[in-house]
Parts: sequence; C-alpha cells; structure tokens
Amino acid sequence: MRVMITGALGRLGGRLVELMRATHDVTGVDIDEFDITDPAATMQAVREAAPELVIHCAAMTDVDGCARNPDLAMRVNAYGTGNIALACQAVGAAMAYISSNEVFDGQKATPYLEYDPTNPINPYGYSKWAGEQAVRDALARFYIVRTSWLFAHGGRNFVQAILSRVRAGESLRVVTDEVAAPTYNDDLADAISALVQTGRYGVYHLVNEGSASRYDFARYVLDTAGYASTPIEPITLAEFGRPSQPPPYGTLRNFAAAELLGIRLRPWEAAVDAFLAREAVGETK
Ligand SMILES: NC(=O)c1ccc[n+]([C@@H]2O[C@H](COP(=O)([O-])OP(=O)(O)OC[C@H]3O[C@@H](n4cnc5c(N)ncnc54)[C@H](OP(=O)(O)O)[C@@H]3O)[C@@H](O)[C@H]2O)c1
Repeated sequence: MRVMITGALGRLGGRLVELMRATHDVTGVDIDEFDITDPAATMQAVREAAPELVIHCAAMTDVDGCARNPDLAMRVNAYGTGNIALACQAVGAAMAYISSNEVFDGQKATPYLEYDPTNPINPYGYSKWAGEQAVRDALARFYIVRTSWLFAHGGRNFVQAILSRVRAGESLRVVTDEVAAPTYNDDLADAISALVQTGRYGVYHLVNEGSASRYDFARYVLDTAGYASTPIEPITLAEFGRPSQPPPYGTLRNFAAAELLGIRLRPWEAAVDAFLAREAVGETK
C-alpha cells in the first residue's frame, strides 16, 4: 500500500515510518516538506505522493501552548486536518487521523467507549475534536484513533522527564487527580499498523490497558528504575496550576479494536517495563 505519514519527525509519525516502510511504500512528511495549514501546498504534496492511505500524526501537541494560543491550535489541529482530509478526498485516499482522549470532559467514572459523547474542556481538546469533525465531513473511509499519554524513545516524554529530575537531584511533585492510560509509542504504532490494514473504518481507542494517575505512573517508573526510596509529593491539578485544564478522568477503553478486531495492547505497566529495558541498553531505534 502507498502510505503517506504526516508528522514524520515527531514521536508517533517517526515510529510509524520506521515500522511500516518494511512492508509498505511509505512517504514520511513533516513541516519541512509542507505546512498542513496551507491548503494549496497540502493538496499539491498529497497529489504528488498519490497515497492510498494518509496517516495524519502532525499536530500542535503542546497542550499548554494550545491554551495560550487557541487560534493557532484550531489552524493546525482542526483546519490543517481538514486540509489533509480534503486532499485525501481529491486523490481517493483513506485517512487515519490520530486524535486524543482530551475530546472527553473527564466526568465519567468508567473508561470511555468510542461512541461516548464528546465534550472537550480545553483548547487542545476542542481543536482535536474539531479535527475529527473535519475528517467526518470530507471522507467516508477514515479511521479516527484516540490515544493518551504517549511515552516514546528519543523524544520529550513523561517517563524521561521524571527520571531526569530524579537524576539531577530535583524534588518531584506530581498530580493525583489526573487519570488516564499511559501508552507506549511503539505499542501504539504496532496497533495502528494492524488497524489500517483491516479496512474496518471507524472510531477506535488505542491505549495500553489499564489506568493510572500521573502520580501512580511516576511512582511505578521510579520503583521500576531503581528509585523506590525517592519520595514524590502528591499534589492536585489546582496546586499544579497549568494553563490547560486536562480532563480529570481520561481513561479510554479499546472496545472496538480489542473486542471486534483482536488488536490488543498490553497493560501499561508491562509497556513501561519494556520501554525502560530498551532505554537501559541504549537500544532505542
Ligand atoms: N503525545 C501524546 O501524549 C498524545 C496523546 C494523545 C494524542 N496524541 C496525538 O497523536 C499524534 C502524534 O503525537 P506526537 O506526540 O507524535 O506528536 P509530536 O511528537 O509533537 O509530532 C508532531 C509533528 O507534527 C509537526 N507539525 C506541527 N505543526 C505542523 C504543521 N503546521 N504542518 C506540518 N507539520 C506540523 C511537528 O513539527 P514541530 O515539532 O516542528 O512543531 C512534529 O514534527 C498527534 O495528533 C497528537 O495530537 C498525542
């Protein structure tokens, strides 16, 4: 299959290019090739590559940056996604759009299913939700894949941030009232690669199994990496005072992928173990 992957210099896009080029004709693109907010440049690039499928990972992913500049978040995450979707329509390509658990408001007490009502509560979540609508408006053949809390080799991520602070002798304060599913970038890429070969278009949640608060996640990382005696001060979101207010409970359940297609991701703790084991031997490519 001819596949175009946007956001190819980013965490997920980069991993997908690496993984899928073994079995597909893959073109990876990022902002150096074209800016997705430019409709003409986007249309031209997609026409030239003539993909059968575009996996759209490019996004403004700085959640607090989106809160500070919601117009830019809309331009990139909503209208930029619309530009990709219209280009897919023009060349007859299917599209996989990577979305977020932040399309939900976090008021549910049990994991969100794919057809639960969305209600974003911050500019990042709103822009990702609007991107979903743009895909639905333009295309009949699409996958919308929602995920959460990616940790990836080689990039900015929560696991490395926690470990770097401990190694630098800094104290740790981590929130207890934000809950979701930590998700290993490599596991997500494997699952997306399997999903897009099924032709079973629709909405999917793809996260590592289980759920944790940011505090639980940090504690598990420290315990596993040999810092069990290092304390973490539990704090609340209100005390942390971020520009963007996350959904307090953002756990997703992979109902459609797991129950209907048999695409399963391991529990997040096992994924953290695998991540740390690869980091420890420097085998992060
Ligand atoms: N990371 C998470 O925890 C998480 C959670 C839920 C959902 N997601 C979604 O998963 C997808 C992949 O996330 P990720 O963490 O892999 O993202 P990432 O590492 O931030 O990569 C995104 C890439 O898109 C590029 N980009 C930004 N604006 C662009 C534009 N206008 N035109 C073309 N390219 C542009 C970025 O370039 P620059 O770096 O130069 O800006 C970057 O290389 C995103 O759709 C994100 O919303 C991520």
